[in-house]
Amino acid sequence: MSRTENDTWDLASSVGATATAVAASRATASQGPDALLNDPWADPLVRAVGIDTFIKLLDGELQRADDPLLNRQAMNEQITVRTRFFDDFFIQATGSGIGQAVILASGLDTRAYRLPWPAGTVVYEIDQPQVIEFKTRTLAGLGAEPAARRRTVAIDLRDDWPAALRAAGFDAGRPTAWSAEGLLVYLPPEAQDRLFDNIAALSAPGSRIATEHMDLRNIPSDWAQKLTERSRRLGSTINLAELFYTGDRNSAAEYLGARGWRVDIQTTERAYAEHGFQLPDDDLASFGDASGYLTATLA
Ligand SMILES: C[S@@+](CC[C@H](N)C(=O)[O-])C[C@H]1O[C@@H](n2cnc3c(N)ncnc32)[C@H](O)[C@@H]1O
Repeated sequence: MSRTENDTWDLASSVGATATAVAASRATASQGPDALLNDPWADPLVRAVGIDTFIKLLDGELQRADDPLLNRQAMNEQITVRTRFFDDFFIQATGSGIGQAVILASGLDTRAYRLPWPAGTVVYEIDQPQVIEFKTRTLAGLGAEPAARRRTVAIDLRDDWPAALRAAGFDAGRPTAWSAEGLLVYLPPEAQDRLFDNIAALSAPGSRIATEHMDLRNIPSDWAQKLTERSRRLGSTINLAELFYTGDRNSAAEYLGARGWRVDIQTTERAYAEHGFQLPDDDLASFGDASGYLTATLA
């Protein structure tokens, strides 16, 4: 089903299922003696959502051996590079004295529970109401304890989330570390610009942001379709091509750069190399300078 202006979802449907998909990747990358990640809550969260394909993935019952990008090892390395990038971002930002973090589109991300946050750090998680409610309830049922002062903001990011964030206690007078992981392509182009405008308006000097770098003007227009077809062959029922907004949009790097943020881009290739992995030999693995990871700091 394609997107509409006010669409909603839980973790088993529409955009919500993509949060379960990435959590399933974190869960498989956390398995075994040579695990690349340590996200102990990803597995039980994915099982609690109950989507058959992802449970089979966790149990090693899905065959993905012949796809250079979607085989188990390649998927584990991809999610490891991504997860460590955002983990390191928060560890460095809060280590340098930023006491407030906002995880936009938090999905089944468990950073509030598993990162070594300095004492007193407040971590806000924003996502759609059913997503927030499910994760909070399931983790509480599993006995998981937040490792920071976790505050949830259950709202659509196309609505007035800044007001909801302030109502939850957010202090715009203090520097903030923001993340938008796996979010931007799910927002229409103008909603992405508005998101950054809102972030800027709420950011005291010294605030930082981390997100994926995707310059869609320099990425082949059929990439989402190709990715959908490839993942379908491997059992996925998620139609990314329908869930993404793939048309032209401002790149986050240019948009933030023009508004006083000092932007740093790490290409996908460099991010893989930094973690000792080799980029898969596949035209969807990376788009050269047009894909990677972005951090920006407000002077
Ligand atoms: C691919 S998942 C990423 C989740 C999480 N950041 C991670 O990397 O595990 C996309 C997430 O974006 C959230 N999302 C997308 N559009 C949203 C919107 N308009 N309002 C609130 N949440 C949204 C979804 O609910 C989902 O949790």
